[in-house]
Amino acid sequence: MKELHLENSWFLISSKLKKIKFNGDTDIRYTEEFVEMFIRKFTKRGDRILDPFAGFGTTLFVGQQLGRTVIGIEYDKSQYEYINERIKEPCKIIHGNSLKLRSYNLPKFDFSITSPPYMRYFDKEDPFTNYTKIGSYSKYLKDIGRIYKQIKKVMKKNAIIIIEVSNTIGQGRPLTPLAWDIGREISKIFFFEQEIIYCSTEGDHSHVLVFKNK
Ligand SMILES: C[S@@+](CC[C@H](N)C(=O)[O-])C[C@H]1O[C@@H](n2cnc3c(N)ncnc32)[C@H](O)[C@@H]1O
Repeated sequence: MKELHLENSWFLISSKLKKIKFNGDTDIRYTEEFVEMFIRKFTKRGDRILDPFAGFGTTLFVGQQLGRTVIGIEYDKSQYEYINERIKEPCKIIHGNSLKLRSYNLPKFDFSITSPPYMRYFDKEDPFTNYTKIGSYSKYLKDIGRIYKQIKKVMKKNAIIIIEVSNTIGQGRPLTPLAWDIGREISKIFFFEQEIIYCSTEGDHSHVLVFKNK
């Protein structure tokens, strides 16, 4: 992965995309080298990391290998089980709902990195229930805010919080500015420090939103 630093901009250029086939869909996830770079940059051995949308556990597995204590929350039972079989104490995966984060009695964290479940403005299913209930884009953005307000309570002062997310297109409709909407929502809670553009040479790009708990 190449880093390109210009005066006010920072680009990451990767030749890899991580595609995961699951339940008939193909998901694109951040790669191990992506999360490793940020973990090394913002944490040291023994630090605590939170991934509120653990997915297939990339943050947990890489963090564990680097000697960090990573705690993840994952809603989907089979993904939770996949992670749980592969991690050891002190790392931990919680089968739960990040909207209830406050109830998990979490310790204080040095760093958080994740990629959230996506929604487009015309989608009807609520991503925070694994698309099993009806929701709306405005509720989704409010829920992101509700989750990150709870995350604020468990982050140490000056901790960095990273969210990797794309704007999304689909079904011939105008683009959903998901990265910008999430950026606006979370900047009500944390100091919005920087945006990094993460490009893959296969043609995709996403926004890496970097916040600080000032
Ligand atoms: C984009 S994926 C995360 C990708 C992950 N960083 C990786 O690389 O594997 C989003 C995950 O959030 C989970 N999720 C959705 N709603 C949730 C909720 N309310 N609480 C916790 N996890 C949730 C989904 O099941 C999905 O696995």
